[in-house]
Amino acid sequence: MKIVDNVYYVGVNDRNKTLFENQWPLPCGVSYNSYLLVDDKVALVDTVDISCCEVFFNEIEEVLAGRKIDYLIINHMEPDHSGSIGLVRQKYPDIKIVGNAKTFSMIKGYFGIEDGLLEVKDGDSLSLGSLKLSFFLTPMVHWPETMMTYDTTHQILFSGDAFGCFGALDGGVLDSTINPDRYWDEMRRYYACIVGKYGSPVQKALSKLKDVKLEYICSTHGPVWQKETAKAVALYDRWSRYVAEPGAVVVYGSMYGNTEQMAESVARGLVQGGVKNVVVYNATKTDPSFILSDVFRYSALVVGSPTYMNELFPVVESFLQKVARRDVKNRIFASFGSASWAGVSVKRISEIIDKCGWRLVGSVDNLHAATSQKKAECELLGKQIALEIQKEG
Ligand code: FEO
Repeated sequence: MKIVDNVYYVGVNDRNKTLFENQWPLPCGVSYNSYLLVDDKVALVDTVDISCCEVFFNEIEEVLAGRKIDYLIINHMEPDHSGSIGLVRQKYPDIKIVGNAKTFSMIKGYFGIEDGLLEVKDGDSLSLGSLKLSFFLTPMVHWPETMMTYDTTHQILFSGDAFGCFGALDGGVLDSTINPDRYWDEMRRYYACIVGKYGSPVQKALSKLKDVKLEYICSTHGPVWQKETAKAVALYDRWSRYVAEPGAVVVYGSMYGNTEQMAESVARGLVQGGVKNVVVYNATKTDPSFILSDVFRYSALVVGSPTYMNELFPVVESFLQKVARRDVKNRIFASFGSASWAGVSVKRISEIIDKCGWRLVGSVDNLHAATSQKKAECELLGKQIALEIQKEG
């Protein structure tokens, strides 16, 4: 599929994989994007997951019609993109692999490849003929070796994972040829799960790119942004600064419904306090990736858990660890919990979340049934959180 003169999409859709990184659900699949630059010299930008290599090689052959590939540019070494490097080298033994020093130590480790390498540093360039490429090193967006390749001729940024999203490409690759609306939520879920911990490296990468004109952004997942380049960049800027919309995520675990009743009351209090964006999740039922996505979206998080074996309810604990590991900043926080004897859940929630440095509004602890009085306390907590949300505007 041609993007512009000399530049072709040769990526593949994967609608078979259930879990990305063996942990994040893919209800709408995922694409592994690769691009072929066909000029005096031919360059392939990134490869695909090895499970899709047969389709990938067919795509390449259709474009090349017998020509050889001169360069394989590796923007990112995570195996969803690097998986086919060994096979590409077997098929095109004279290919030169273009990467940075960190890329090469990973290529040696994963594939035992130590020769035929062309090392680039930040700002280096490479000419393919009419296409002039330059390289930006963007470490930790998402791994230490990540870099971006920029075609100065067409102003195309091959951005690696950055600006990518879950969701296979259903017939169209360029955002201008499809309705891209369904990808935005999946972009935030991708960001929250995969890149979300690395806000500061993303900010550094954005500042490096601030004067670079972007006609196209070709990421490794999801549509090629042409019409919506500015929106994609603005969203990344916002998420990497942990800027939130006014709203609250209420997450709970509950065995017999008492903590759940508390969650309902907190949510009611939030809405009575004027917060329109309130989402309530049963952590046992909803996959954490969807909840994390909303934690990146909204300004408040309220978490409830029963005490279980003198600890937190396991799914709630696992969810909280995921939040804490992502270093999400500047959120309003509150908690609630219930127990049948010796409740510790509110204390345990605080032990995890205290490290995030968030603003704690309050907590409600309960023993036994969620009585009317306890529910009223939870409703009041919801209203207090609403006030804090409104203060942020
Ligand atoms: Fe799509 Fe970090 O790999």
